[in-house]
Amino acid sequence: MESLIINDKIKKSRIPARLDLLQSGTGLILGLFMWVHMMLVGSIVLGKDAFNFVAKTMELSFLSSTGHGYPAAVFFAVLGVFTLFIIHAALGVRKFPISWKQHEIFRSQMGMMKHEDTNLWYIQVITAFIMFFLGSAHLFVMLTNPGQIDPYLSADRVISHNMWPLYLILLFAVELHGTIGLYRLCMKWGWFDKVRWFNENNRPGSRQYLKMLKKRLTIFFLALGLLALLVFSVIGIRHKDRVGERYNSGHSTVQTSVSVKTEALSEDNIDNAAMAEAISEENTDSTDAASVEKSTTTEEKAE
Ligand code: HEM
Repeated sequence: MESLIINDKIKKSRIPARLDLLQSGTGLILGLFMWVHMMLVGSIVLGKDAFNFVAKTMELSFLSSTGHGYPAAVFFAVLGVFTLFIIHAALGVRKFPISWKQHEIFRSQMGMMKHEDTNLWYIQVITAFIMFFLGSAHLFVMLTNPGQIDPYLSADRVISHNMWPLYLILLFAVELHGTIGLYRLCMKWGWFDKVRWFNENNRPGSRQYLKMLKKRLTIFFLALGLLALLVFSVIGIRHKDRVGERYNSGHSTVQTSVSVKTEALSEDNIDNAAMAEAISEENTDSTDAASVEKSTTTEEKAE
């Protein structure tokens, strides 16, 4: 009884709720970022030029006069994502089972309940554990090589630097974790509860609808990721004997040849101008000579 009275007097802390909010917020940003990331990386499916264009645009090449861009832009983007990733992971660790015993109790209750959303939570814990190591390794490589994203260098990384097993496992982990996370956020905060089209025409309730959406998004991004990984692998295998060589797109070749021609033309123009000057000087000289000759003849005639 005494302990109850003491507990009653303890002020309830708002910190756990705030940490939960922060975890949801960082999870939302990372989940949406991963969709954008997969679309950008997936541009390799459209060809090397498409991927190169995306990579150069991310380096803000359109802002630099040389067209080389600023790898620092990628560095700071990775740093931002890495920071969010660490904060999100640190907040998530609070909810991990902290001993094998706790884990076993959870597993046996999960088996008894046969509740799909509880199973999804378990998948999130396992994929989070995998991502903690593999995601950190990938982000560290990106952070330390920010100017090395182009179709050949990325494909070399996948094949010649043996990153493909890491990407394959990380792809499954991130796609499952991301879409389950976004689904759980929608359910937790009830974002779509009041959206009418989720329930009209005898559509299943929002939980079922969101689950269906989650499944489709997982399949879409997994298929895109696997296809991208396959294309990177083919390019990487073909490029094995030229590891480290940068991609020189057709576009930049055209640009180079155009600029070389323009330069040549302007050199020609300079030559022409020089020639024209020389001719005009010659003309002036001959005119001067003619006038001297003429005046001499006139003087001779006068005498
Ligand atoms: C701003 C941060 C990031 C950048 C700039 C970035 C960039 C890239 C690039 C260029 C590739 C192509 C392969 C390569 O060049 O090595 C790639 C692949 C991949 N990234 Fe990221 N990444 C970032 C963050 C993340 C995060 C946070 C994750 C998940 C934890 C992730 C997961 C993956 C996966 C799974 C692949 C393989 C995709 C495939 O080919 O199917 N990335 N990333």
